[in-house]
Amino acid sequence: MASPVDELPGSALATPAGEPPGAAPRRVFLETYGCQMNVADSELVRGLLAREGWVVVPDPAEADAILVNTCAIRENAEERVLGRFTQLLQHKQARPGVQLGLLGCVATHQRERLLERAPWIDLIVGPDGYRDLPVLLRGGTDPRIEVRLDRDETYADLAPDLAPGPRAFLTVMRGCDKFCTFCVVPFTRGRERSLPAEAVLEQVRSAVGEGKREVVLLGQTVNAWRHDGLDFGDLLRRVARVPGVERIRFTSPHPSDVGESMIDAMAGEEKVMPWLHLPLQSASDAVLAAMQRGYGLDEYRRLLERIRARVPGIAVSTDVIVGFPGEGEVDFEATESFLREVRYDFAYLFKYSAREGTRAWKIEETVDEAEKGRRLERLIALQEAISLERHREQVGREVEVLVEGPSKRPPGHVHGKTRDFKTAVLPGDGIEPGALVLARVEDATAHTLLAVPAATAGLGASALGRSKSEPRDPGRSDGATPR
Ligand code: SAH
Ligand code: SF4
Ligand code: F3S
Repeated sequence: MASPVDELPGSALATPAGEPPGAAPRRVFLETYGCQMNVADSELVRGLLAREGWVVVPDPAEADAILVNTCAIRENAEERVLGRFTQLLQHKQARPGVQLGLLGCVATHQRERLLERAPWIDLIVGPDGYRDLPVLLRGGTDPRIEVRLDRDETYADLAPDLAPGPRAFLTVMRGCDKFCTFCVVPFTRGRERSLPAEAVLEQVRSAVGEGKREVVLLGQTVNAWRHDGLDFGDLLRRVARVPGVERIRFTSPHPSDVGESMIDAMAGEEKVMPWLHLPLQSASDAVLAAMQRGYGLDEYRRLLERIRARVPGIAVSTDVIVGFPGEGEVDFEATESFLREVRYDFAYLFKYSAREGTRAWKIEETVDEAEKGRRLERLIALQEAISLERHREQVGREVEVLVEGPSKRPPGHVHGKTRDFKTAVLPGDGIEPGALVLARVEDATAHTLLAVPAATAGLGASALGRSKSEPRDPGRSDGATPR
């Protein structure tokens, strides 16, 4: 279930510039649903509004403008957003003048229906319209709508207001040209476009300047990044040269866009972490063809073998959809057996959800909800068992943990990620977020490693060397639970 991921305290932002002394600052509340790209977009929006004199507040009851950055990937995500807006409407009823704004993928996907179902929404702004937000928020005839997609907009010149913590999520390419038949993204985010390398490097330098130690490069097909004759592998190598960057990750690469240059960078660059999220969707060639994924199972299998041979010990995660129209028991069993074969470190598993506007929307569904549920449960049980085995393999090993902050439980512990993106929890009174800690794994659950520090921090990745164990979870916030 999607959850708001960014209830940032207002104190995270500096006092607004350009505000006449004594004038009440305008206050904005921004809630985010969806993938990391949406989270990163919200950081851009915060940065943009802060420069225009807005202050971010943590409670919609204090806000003059209430914005929700939305996700349209599955039907339930969209329904939830409308439900949330109905709740937020109370603030507008209690304090006339409060503006309600809907940002993100639902804006571009559902504009007409939104206007019918929620005519009281003041602003509807799609992923390419954020530059206009400050002007749109100044007022005008309701509803104010900016849902055009723009082939060139990359926001390359805008500085995001990064969330606290040692990790920065940085968008390096936008949109998607793949048009998988089940997916709304090409319609909600438009055509694929890359930020110039120099703009990415500037954002990386700036993140490091703020104390970030890890950068996660983002894009719906992040490895399709290319600019001025450079490819994604070149970009990884350049980011790895930025002083102060300790760890580099990226999500999500598309199997069809994996080139030798990217594999070389993963194998050769110590700072590129040994974790790869490689979405599979299905292990049936018939289903992959119907999804128009652009690869067959054998191609995917060989690709993964090549990567595992070049980056020994690399952790691999994936996305799977069950119940795509036409998926028979045999197709499903092919997926089940492929999960057993690959032994992914973790996986996001979804029930197919028909999305209006996509090609698959027109195909009659053949797997009913109950059967989708049964298939999903089977895959969850299987993957949980594999994830547990994968975690248990780490017991007794030393891992390098980038500490993110206090852990919810047990008390007195901190949590962070290993180089291979597994969550580790360790006793850590006094260990600051951002510390790199060498720790020994003592126990494991399907989702967490329990470790004790072997030596503490200040140690760079190079000083520690590459740990034997490695990766997990693309930090996704679209409601998907990693298994
Ligand atoms: N660009 C990435 C995926 C982006 S969406 C890629 O191509 O791999 C994240 C995941 O949501 C997808 O990998 C897919 O597993 C899932 N998803 C997308 N559309 C869906 C739909 N209509 N129903 C169910 N799951 C879907
Ligand atoms: Fe959607 Fe396919 Fe593009 Fe991924 S590659 S965003 S699944 S259309
Ligand atoms: Fe959702 Fe849009 Fe991301 S549909 S998954 S927020 S690209």
